[in-house]
Amino acid sequence: MNITINGRAVEATIDPRMSLLDLLRDHVGLTGTKKGCNQGACGACTVLADGERINSCLALAVQYEGRSITTVEGLSSASGDLHPLQRAFIEHDGFQCGYCTPGQLVSAVGMAGEAERGLPSVVTADLSAETVRLDRDELRERMSGNLCRCGAYNGIIEAVAETFAN
Ligand code: FES
Repeated sequence: MNITINGRAVEATIDPRMSLLDLLRDHVGLTGTKKGCNQGACGACTVLADGERINSCLALAVQYEGRSITTVEGLSSASGDLHPLQRAFIEHDGFQCGYCTPGQLVSAVGMAGEAERGLPSVVTADLSAETVRLDRDELRERMSGNLCRCGAYNGIIEAVAETFAN
């Protein structure tokens, strides 16, 4: 199969039953994306598929033939500068053990893209403003698919808010 990962064309011969998560970690060597529950409940495996958040543990890799995947390794610039959200996570202690952090980061970047595209949320469908800025309740709701066992939610939301909200 052919797939683009973090802007790089990747060709892989795989078992058609392989998950996208296993392709990323075991075949491509991008171990930033984490395997937590492996059943779609924790969000540790979140990546972007053409900008949309998905749980890569639930996705068959072959379903993403020809698509463009962004992992946590793809958030920093080519020269290695951290994404503003990554810097904000450091500033606000948005992690403790750090296992959920890649998923949290990718999910927040995907969330911001959803808001800008005016996709309705479960909290409010009123996202029609040209530049959408989200309040903290909205952020918490939109980030609710990403669990943090250490309970670092306040730092996570502060970092996300500083980067994407009012
Ligand atoms: Fe995919 Fe938990 S590892 S949602």
